[in-house]
Amino acid sequence: MTLKNRSLITVDDFSVGEMEGVFNLADEMAESITNQLDVCKGKVMASLFFESSTRTRLSFETAMHRLGGSVISAVDIGATSLAKGESIADMARVIGSYADIIVIRHPWEGAAKVVADYSGIPVINGGDGGHQHPTQTLCDLYTIRKERGSIAGMNIALWGDLKYGRTIHSLIFALAKFSANILFCPSPGLEVPEHVIQKLIAEYGGDIEKMTPEQKAKTDRFPLNAIYTTPNQPHQLAMMPGVDIELELKTGLDALYVTRPQKERFNDAEQQLKDKYPVVDKELLKDKSFRRAMVMHPLPRVDELAYELDSDPRSLYFKQAAQGVPVRMALVSLLLGMKDTKITENETSAPKYEYPIYKQDTGIKCPNKKCVSVQATEIRYLKPDFKIVNFKPLTLRCNYCEHGFEPKYVASTEWHEGMLVSKKYHSAGSHWSQHIKPENLLIFNSAKDAEAAGFKADIRVKKEAEANLSGT
Ligand code: NCD
Repeated sequence: MTLKNRSLITVDDFSVGEMEGVFNLADEMAESITNQLDVCKGKVMASLFFESSTRTRLSFETAMHRLGGSVISAVDIGATSLAKGESIADMARVIGSYADIIVIRHPWEGAAKVVADYSGIPVINGGDGGHQHPTQTLCDLYTIRKERGSIAGMNIALWGDLKYGRTIHSLIFALAKFSANILFCPSPGLEVPEHVIQKLIAEYGGDIEKMTPEQKAKTDRFPLNAIYTTPNQPHQLAMMPGVDIELELKTGLDALYVTRPQKERFNDAEQQLKDKYPVVDKELLKDKSFRRAMVMHPLPRVDELAYELDSDPRSLYFKQAAQGVPVRMALVSLLLGMKDTKITENETSAPKYEYPIYKQDTGIKCPNKKCVSVQATEIRYLKPDFKIVNFKPLTLRCNYCEHGFEPKYVASTEWHEGMLVSKKYHSAGSHWSQHIKPENLLIFNSAKDAEAAGFKADIRVKKEAEANLSGT
């Protein structure tokens, strides 16, 4: 199998077989880590870290040095021409002409995709805002697989900031891909975003069961609020819907994946959420359900994981970080085409979901303020780019940051309502939106945009507007 010239922006980019291929090569490389100096000799990696990083940047750079390649780096936006207002696309084109591979971390969600679209060389997403962090996920899965031999059917609890944690978002989809069950244990107010859950169910199948307040009350210090069960494994008795939660937990967890509050991404109102953040300590782990649980953390930790656990044999977080080097050595050498690897199953590329694409410039913008596509420097050349992931209700997903939203109004590029004079826009929830062919669909987020495009409100929209004005 070759992964030559591929990029890794989200975990969707690799199939299970391809990830297994990376793990197999990582196993091989881990056995003789100092003996790989010829693998990427003469190759250059650009390491662009525009957000703070210790493990990801240094393990990538170590990996490239161990492979005999060299590294050029930029670690501060202020020290690059991005600070002068240069676009990410221009930076990517230029660096693509210097280096053979790029690793980028950037606070804007979707930034790594833009680099991949414009650089012409393989790109690895080292974390794009709160969106994804696929190589941390490779390290996480590699750790689970190494300790337990397999990932399928495992019960993995995700703990803490499930809203802004990019390691969490990547891990959710990857665990589903590998047929694991997921227990969601968010800190209050930091639950998994709805668009992540929607994508999980629509594209990976399986079920989400939300805990009732009575069930929650029984779980004591374990803030379980929902369970995802994979469609690909026979459910264990205790994972069947409706079974008492105490029984559920007695089957035991295979891993507890703890994360810190991503306070740099909190809005002002969320700053106080840090104070209610649940802590994992010796006392909590005394519960029977954690008897066999691996304690994992992408690091850095702050207060959510007690230091007293460092000597506990279940704690794997430092091992998890150490495995970042062989995993990234394997990944870099595969993307550069300097190594091939055998795959364990007959699957060589990730299945892609074929949704209709919406690329019309009708003034519609991604509502996520952290999305690369709405930034002043990028809006000059990035056109809105969405998938229509649902028609009822009409739901768009941004192709850069993957945020989902339900736009307000629709119209058709065709004349309709029988008369040429009527060029109307309709509420997205009305029956009209169901009648417009996807290729004729125009979507607007505001009446102003629809009117600027030459459309007039239909009766229903007019009545709604009048009712809003009169306050009824
Ligand atoms: C994580 C990240 O940057 O998202 N760290 C890492 O890469 N290991 C997790 C975090 O910062 O909390």
